Amino acid sequence: MPQVFCIANQKGGVGKTTTAISLASAFARSGRRTLLADLDPQCNATGGLDLRPARIHGLAESKPLSEAVVPAAVRGLFVLPGSPSLSNIEVMAAADPRLLARMTRRFSEGAAGYDTVFIDSPPSLGPLTRAALALSSEVIIPIQCEYFAMEGLARMIGVLREMKTKGICALSSAGIVLTMYDPDLELTLEIDRNVRSCFDENVYKTVIPWDVTVSEAPSHGKSIFEYAPRSRGARAYAELCLEVLGYV
Ligand SMILES: Nc1ncnc2c1ncn2[C@@H]1O[C@H](COP(=O)(O)OP(=O)(O)OP(=O)(O)O)[C@@H](O)[C@H]1O
Ligand SMILES: [Mg+2]
Repeated sequence: MPQVFCIANQKGGVGKTTTAISLASAFARSGRRTLLADLDPQCNATGGLDLRPARIHGLAESKPLSEAVVPAAVRGLFVLPGSPSLSNIEVMAAADPRLLARMTRRFSEGAAGYDTVFIDSPPSLGPLTRAALALSSEVIIPIQCEYFAMEGLARMIGVLREMKTKGICALSSAGIVLTMYDPDLELTLEIDRNVRSCFDENVYKTVIPWDVTVSEAPSHGKSIFEYAPRSRGARAYAELCLEVLGYV
């Protein structure tokens, strides 16, 4: 099985999708056959790579997953498009109790053809995020350096512990990445110190700076490496890729 990274944080707007697109692109550019699975009904990872959301999500269909996967413009990067229909997952799962188990099986079969898989998850701790965590071997938690960051993080860690205790997920590692980092703000530095003192080696050394080109890239349907390859954001995500791979 490939390494499967879930990008998760129940807090909205912290940089999950940006991190999912950027890391998946960096992994693909390094020669790894990479799948980015969009499990967020908002479908931002799909749209951010200039692809169209699906009417029915590939995991909820009966045809082979390979038929639902589409190539992205980045060589070696493939996308399982998101679907707004997944916003109904609780209703769907109530009507079809085996749905989540079937989605899990289809994911495992389809993921086997890739070296690395990234899953972009929605801003909640509901069934989709839990399913994404259950499918993953590692979780990356982006956090924005702002006042309520630590509270959100504590809840997230609580859910990970609970799922692990119940044997629902088998995550082997969890890494926290600080996003939209502005070293000129005292609050950024304070959150940085707090997170590192609490979670120590689980916090990536690489921080992702606040960079306007990072926020512009998705509206051009490109990853930061195609849109602004010399930007601070592109350099930071390339460095994060190396750190995730264990090279730095
Ligand atoms: N490093 C950065 N510098 C500047 N803007 C950024 C950066 N990272 C993300 N953004 C912007 O911040 C906003 C939120 O980012 P993103 O969509 O990645 O967060 P998210 O956690 O996926 O949100 P949601 O919870 O809604 O899925 C977007 O407009 C994005 O372009
Ligand atoms: Mg998102």
